[in-house]
Amino acid sequence: MPQITTPYYLIYEKRLLQNLKIIRHVRQVSGAKSVLALKCFSTWCVFGLMRKYMDGTTSSPLFEARLGHEKFGKEVHAYSVGFSGQDIKAVRKLADKVIFNSISQLGVYGADLRGLKLGLRVNPGISYSHFDLADPARKYSRLGVADKEKLMQVASLISGVMFHFNCENNDFVKFSAALDFIGHNYGDLLERMEWVSLGGGIAFTNDGYPLEKFCERLKVFSKKFGVQVYLEPGEAAITGCAELVTTVLDVVHNEVDIAIVDASTEAHMLDHLVYRTSAKIAYPGQGRFKVMIAGRSCLAGDVFGQYSLKTRLKTGSVVRIADAAGYTMVKKNWFNGLPMPGICVRRLDGTVDTVRKFGYKDFTNSLS
Ligand SMILES: Cc1ncc(COP(=O)(O)O)c(C=O)c1O
Repeated sequence: MPQITTPYYLIYEKRLLQNLKIIRHVRQVSGAKSVLALKCFSTWCVFGLMRKYMDGTTSSPLFEARLGHEKFGKEVHAYSVGFSGQDIKAVRKLADKVIFNSISQLGVYGADLRGLKLGLRVNPGISYSHFDLADPARKYSRLGVADKEKLMQVASLISGVMFHFNCENNDFVKFSAALDFIGHNYGDLLERMEWVSLGGGIAFTNDGYPLEKFCERLKVFSKKFGVQVYLEPGEAAITGCAELVTTVLDVVHNEVDIAIVDASTEAHMLDHLVYRTSAKIAYPGQGRFKVMIAGRSCLAGDVFGQYSLKTRLKTGSVVRIADAAGYTMVKKNWFNGLPMPGICVRRLDGTVDTVRKFGYKDFTNSLS
């Protein structure tokens, strides 16, 4: 057991390895390289394992690019919705590829980055997303260049393009149709490029995903246009590999039993609030005891979800919240001055490292 009190995130390297082996398989069969999307997962204490199976990292703004360079190594792709002049100066020393979000930024900074591979993000006008908030092709989207004609005019200034058009897409048929659309509409551009990134949001490490068909599609696409294909898995790289371990502090009753745990959606698993989804519970298992599990912040809607569990929760019960790796540790915050969950790793040999504890000093240091 870790030498730490709850709450803490617990990463299982064994589960991570299962995803990583799939990523390596895709690379071996299709030739598509995978760079980890740090915006999803920047917990660098497991990069030692991840770097053996992945080709590098892709970052949003500067600090992620630096983290990728310092802690992961290999290829560093730097993309940003908006670079500043200072970002560009720093990124020049860290990145292998710089991907601009707009033709105007390419125009302003492209010449300063001679020697690096430059790219542009394209908005193909199609997407797969269950959430408008995360839909890169939503109306008035600022993400990527939508004007094909203008893209063709600057094609000689870049060596690659990035299409990020999926969010939690586990539907291979729809992915395949979207790839056809991209090939059909951007084939003439792709033929002039050395590389293309198909972004993240493809759930290819999920159980039952038709992996061999996926590999074949990527391989054929790469050959047809003569491009190195990249994937930018965030969630797919770390899905299912961590839990948020909590303890029940109290059980109150208001029509239903409500167990209050020593963590919070708002502070520690924010996306459940943002996307209005329920957390999955890894422990206790399913059963007949109905309970709502809620966070300890003062936000009225700080609720993980409603469940039927094997045991009746009482003060002191341990609750393990599943799928706690992606978009959690990178988004945690000090709302309500709540204790921030530590970070623990169950290594491949079964030992558990407590790699980070946070305390009052971290709270005060994040403010002034
Ligand atoms: C450009 C880009 N690449 C990759 C990703 C990672 O996506 P996911 O974590 O869904 O795989 C994102 C997520 O928003 C993204 O915006």
